[in-house]
Amino acid sequence: MACEKKPVSSFTVRLGLALLAGCVLVAMISLAAMFRHDAVPLQTLSLLFSVGPVSSVMWGEERLGSHRFGRNRVPVLCDFSSSRSDVCELRGDVRVLPNATIVLHHPLARRQSWRMKPHGRKNDRHALARVTEVTVTVATASASPHHTSGAAAAAAPRCTANHTAPAVVFSVGGYAGNMFHDLTDVLVPLFITARRFGGDVHLLVGDAQPWWLDKFRPLLGGLSRHAVVDMSRGSSSGGVLCYPHVILGLEFHKEMSVDAARTAGGGEYSMADFTLLARRSYGLPRDKAIRVHGRGGGGVRPRLLLISRKSTRAFTNAGSIARAAASLGYEVVVGEPARHADLASFARVVNSCDVLVGVHGAGLANLVFLPAGAVVVQVVPLGGLDAMAADDFGAPARDAGLRYVHYGIAEAESTLATRYPRDHRVLRDPAAVRSEGWMALRAAYLVGQNVTIDVRRFSGALRRAMELLRQTHDHE
Ligand SMILES: *[C@@H]1O[C@H](CO)[C@@H](O)[C@H](O)[C@H]1NC(C)=O
Ligand SMILES: *[C@@H]1O[C@H](CO)[C@@H](O)[C@H](O)[C@H]1NC(C)=O
Ligand SMILES: *[C@@H]1O[C@H](CO)[C@@H](O)[C@H](O)[C@H]1NC(C)=O
Repeated sequence: MACEKKPVSSFTVRLGLALLAGCVLVAMISLAAMFRHDAVPLQTLSLLFSVGPVSSVMWGEERLGSHRFGRNRVPVLCDFSSSRSDVCELRGDVRVLPNATIVLHHPLARRQSWRMKPHGRKNDRHALARVTEVTVTVATASASPHHTSGAAAAAAPRCTANHTAPAVVFSVGGYAGNMFHDLTDVLVPLFITARRFGGDVHLLVGDAQPWWLDKFRPLLGGLSRHAVVDMSRGSSSGGVLCYPHVILGLEFHKEMSVDAARTAGGGEYSMADFTLLARRSYGLPRDKAIRVHGRGGGGVRPRLLLISRKSTRAFTNAGSIARAAASLGYEVVVGEPARHADLASFARVVNSCDVLVGVHGAGLANLVFLPAGAVVVQVVPLGGLDAMAADDFGAPARDAGLRYVHYGIAEAESTLATRYPRDHRVLRDPAAVRSEGWMALRAAYLVGQNVTIDVRRFSGALRRAMELLRQTHDHE
């Protein structure tokens, strides 16, 4: 599922990067002096427009005049340092045009323009092929119609709506429709970027299909009390939307999770806050998993949801797994992640459970709907996938206040063992297959493999999950 591990480097921000490089060092030094008390992590700031050593505004190597900005007044602040996403903050008179163009007017700016794709997978050309590029132009146009030259007037379209709240502009293109990608590429980064505004923020969404907006409307509504603006379908009514502050692109921390220490102000929001928002948005009733007492479970049967994938990485013996779980004291639900519009009802099923079991894949992303203290059991197929699996779902589960059990299957539990001779490289040498690239890895292990669980071996993982439900937990 995760399509992100390919070494691709097709996309770079078409900026005067050489120009930028020349000033970054100076900018860093001056920033260090200026923001020393603001706890701004310096390595995250690649400045386009910053404050120079003698309080002069700099753009590249251009000295634009003497001026001093506070931390929240810097007109353009871009961070291109993350391997996953580029983010620019624009402040002042910012106008969003219906043709994916953003114009920032600033009296001291020299006319400059750059393009970027506001999506959390900036080095993945497959994802970016479905992301609309946004053009940003910084211009000195005067607000007064009496003083504009021809060129400046063209760059100063009239506002159709003038808002006081900030806006976040982002694309949901890429792998929209895959629950893991929707969360890790878009929704969790959106939470990181927009949560600080306490709902008073406009969400300007590009490349979204109507079903995508419907599916996630509750969550988007939990982040913004303003109507979502669908940039691709002209719900901006072809108008020019004006804001005092626009964030273009989403901040990415880690796979499907939040690094609380890096959120605005430090430690303010965590992945547990994201999952709380997810539960509230979809009206899910349970915030805490069941607490099992005593050996026999004290009469309570924790509910276990077995996610059954249909075509790839499928369990060939889901029935046997369900019976084994039932005999260990679970009430078993076998479920399939919903397509598109049905997310709300699947979220309710997930939230009613205390244990989520599934093979590595997007269905496990539904862990965001589990009550705190619940247990995620990830079944990891052959192919050297353990580290990726742990990053994709293990760490997010723990960050969300859940418990995590990692079950790496034995060779005999993989259908690859019957498909290939014992000494075949697919079985013997996953590293060699990986070295051929992502598509080879995907074909061999993610598409080419089903799982036949050895229920006796797997009972250990199911007992471990029950044991965890007996223990008290930080989040209780
Ligand atoms: C978008 O529209 C503005 C105003 O009509 C125009 O000046 C600009 O060139 C257009 N940008 C793109 C990328 O088409
Ligand atoms: C938007 O409204 C604010 C407050 O009324 C005003 O100061 C600003 O000049 C307006 N901006 C534009 C671009 O019309
Ligand atoms: C895995 O199981 C599914 C569902 O039974 C089947 O359609 C698919 O062909 C199987 N794949 C392999 C590689 O055996």
